Amino acid sequence: MQELRDKYITAIADAADEAALENLRVTAVGKKGEISLKMRELGKMTPEERQVAGPALNALKDEINSALSAKKAALADAALEERLRSEWLDVTLPARDMRRGSIHPISQVTEEVSAIFADMGFSVAEGPQIDSDWYVFDALNIPGHHPARAEMDTFYMNRAEGDNRPPHILRTHTSPVQIRSMEAQGAPIRIIAPGRVYRADYDQTHTPMFHQVEGLAIDKDISMANLKWCLEEFVKAFFEVDHVELRFRASHFPFTEPSAEVDIQCSWEGGVLKVGEGDDWLEILGSGMVHPKVLQNSGVDPEVYQGFAFGVGIDRIAMLKYGIPDLRAFFDSDLRWLRHYGFASLDQPTLHGGLSR
Ligand code: DAH
Repeated sequence: MQELRDKYITAIADAADEAALENLRVTAVGKKGEISLKMRELGKMTPEERQVAGPALNALKDEINSALSAKKAALADAALEERLRSEWLDVTLPARDMRRGSIHPISQVTEEVSAIFADMGFSVAEGPQIDSDWYVFDALNIPGHHPARAEMDTFYMNRAEGDNRPPHILRTHTSPVQIRSMEAQGAPIRIIAPGRVYRADYDQTHTPMFHQVEGLAIDKDISMANLKWCLEEFVKAFFEVDHVELRFRASHFPFTEPSAEVDIQCSWEGGVLKVGEGDDWLEILGSGMVHPKVLQNSGVDPEVYQGFAFGVGIDRIAMLKYGIPDLRAFFDSDLRWLRHYGFASLDQPTLHGGLSR
């Protein structure tokens, strides 16, 4: 028995890998292993012999089993050590090729817009991309029969058969974040809400997913004049020009009254857009004074509070500012395009440091 013990304990200590260890396990304590066969011989012994040999064999089997599992753990530790040694990576080294990653124009413009409005005291709010038709339509004073619902080419989520609840939808605009923010925060409130929106539409200037930023300012004494000033400041800061004329054109949105679409002054000399000069006009956003019903639907008293809202297409103003001709390229993930139109990853847009340096 001592011989058996020495043989296996030495062999286990010397085993080079898990396969060798498994072989040893089978030949020692496996069903037909040497020690198991010895145990079978117990039956042929006298009771006195058995009383000595039985516990000794069991102890030997235990000793070998624990040697096996200790060695197995040691082998695994050594393998891990080896991997850690060979796959070691110094993450504190400076990047070698900064061109590799760039900030997408959508992210860049979202940051630029946020920096501008943060400076005017707006905070950034978010809402879900999958929403109910209450938040996307009804609460915004767009009832079921309203043509705006059809115009917006809404994507509806699938429902389980027999489920008659109103379906969830992909939000068609960021305006539902107005409702959610007023519900959560009440008035006064000043927020912008950038994010993804969805409509079933696809051509050079439309993609099924695109981006908007919503603005909302509610207080006791906010007027159309405040809206105009805010948007002028925004357009000047965003297009990085000292002067720009805005044109407020009467329009209609169910969630604002009165409503205005806003055009910016521009020129198209030699096919290059210049904002703030020339005598062309370019529509860039929708806006207005928030409809009393919208305030009411959000739990804000329209007898006390009033304010303005606006909605801008982020992709659209990104195309205009950075001269990007085709909207679809935004979402192609073409590395050459990203290298051309992308922004340095460590340059945060700020008003003091410059938005688009
Ligand atoms: N939600 C509108 C759209 O998607 C944009 C819009 C227009 C938002 C006027 C507003 C607004 O907040 O006042 O076309």
